[in-house]
Amino acid sequence: MSRHIALIRRDPLTFLTETWRTYGDVVQFPIPKPPSYLISSPEAVRAVLVTEGRNYTKATLQYRALSLVTGEGLLTAEGESWRVQRPLVQPAFHHSSVERMAAHVVSASDSLITRWAALPDGAVVDVDGEMMRMALEVVGHSLFGSDLSGDADRLAKATLAALDVVVARARVPITPPAWLPTPANRQLARAVSTLDEAVAGLIDRHRDRSDEAGHTPDMLNMLLDARDDEGRELSTSQIRDQMVTFIVAGHETVASALSWAWALLAQHPEVADAIAAEANSVFGDREPCAADYVRLPWTKAVFDETLRLYPPAWLITRTSIDGATLAGREIHPNSLHIISPWIVHRHPDAWRNPGEFTPERFLERDAPIRSAFFPFGAGLRLCIGRDFAYVEGVLALARIASRLRLSALPGQQLPRAMPLVTIRPEGGLHLGVGKR
Ligand code: HEM
Repeated sequence: MSRHIALIRRDPLTFLTETWRTYGDVVQFPIPKPPSYLISSPEAVRAVLVTEGRNYTKATLQYRALSLVTGEGLLTAEGESWRVQRPLVQPAFHHSSVERMAAHVVSASDSLITRWAALPDGAVVDVDGEMMRMALEVVGHSLFGSDLSGDADRLAKATLAALDVVVARARVPITPPAWLPTPANRQLARAVSTLDEAVAGLIDRHRDRSDEAGHTPDMLNMLLDARDDEGRELSTSQIRDQMVTFIVAGHETVASALSWAWALLAQHPEVADAIAAEANSVFGDREPCAADYVRLPWTKAVFDETLRLYPPAWLITRTSIDGATLAGREIHPNSLHIISPWIVHRHPDAWRNPGEFTPERFLERDAPIRSAFFPFGAGLRLCIGRDFAYVEGVLALARIASRLRLSALPGQQLPRAMPLVTIRPEGGLHLGVGKR
């Protein structure tokens, strides 16, 4: 058991994969409380997330830790609170927001292209760090429009500092209670109070400014204006929780997917060439827009294949209310269900040559069975930012690949996958850059 705990901490992906390979699709861990299962068959995953979804809640360690930062935002909210919030938040993800976001992606990609194209051919760049910065800029501009003043910047930094504590906490089942003044708890408290102040400042300024003529509404305006059929609106603290949730859920996930896409493309330069050719035939020298997304099927297939092999949200957890039968096994009520897209996305019952990078599989007619591919979750709690992420990821890949070549250094292999809040490339991702 102590060997297991050491492996869980050191290398959770290997631990989960070994557990599944040794014991199969539904495995009960040898811990008494709560009864805990690893669920890996596509059908059982579908039952938990979709068909029997109402029998499961997000009352798990993972979401409790996250809610220390995000409060009761959409990602962590439950029951009635979630049911009231989701329709109020949905308009902020309307097509018009996706279109405005696409313009932010193009401008962030173009400024990166300008900087990298000015480097001597073959210079080595920090791709992972740049993808993080780019995704943060895109989500920041989409939320707050041009108001990327000190507050927005402080908000983003404080969110990241708070997340560090949360990751450390989620990895250790027994952590000191939040009121004990340990260094980690103090870091968390400081970060959360910075978050609160920054959001309050942004909300006040947005309320003042939303009446100005010519003001383009951003996602924060949409949340401030949202009313449901019964005239309910989001409270200031609920808006704070959504803002922080969008930064947490919408920034590192996209950055992680983009970094892994570049890592895979550097190992498969012929696929990068195909993306560049597709981009040139679709938008050439003009600026891409959200509508181009549907004209870039090959780039989307590459993004999907990246999400299959390196699903940023590598762990999805649920607690059952009643007992159930999953893949022929009786499951206790009130038990923890651990689902890892990392495993199911490689399940040999669903995927041919699961370990291989084969974007074409997403263009084939006999597409993979639905429940075996769920990088954005599934069922009622499906990611609200899915379209946002697809348009952002596909446009950024297409624009950058059409102008630059990012290449593996001599002898460079794929980095090891390090599962934190999302799956990160261990040691970062450093690639050679050159103009096309
Ligand atoms: C590649 C990028 C992304 C990935 C892989 C991803 C993944 C996920 C997954 C797996 C879930 C479901 C979690 C569960 O069922 O336990 C989820 C939910 C959510 N995501 Fe995303 N996400 C991405 C991008 C975004 C973006 C860009 C935003 C917002 C700007 C966002 C906001 C949310 C929110 C608010 C929820 C909770 C929805 C609800 O429960 O109603 N995500 N995401």
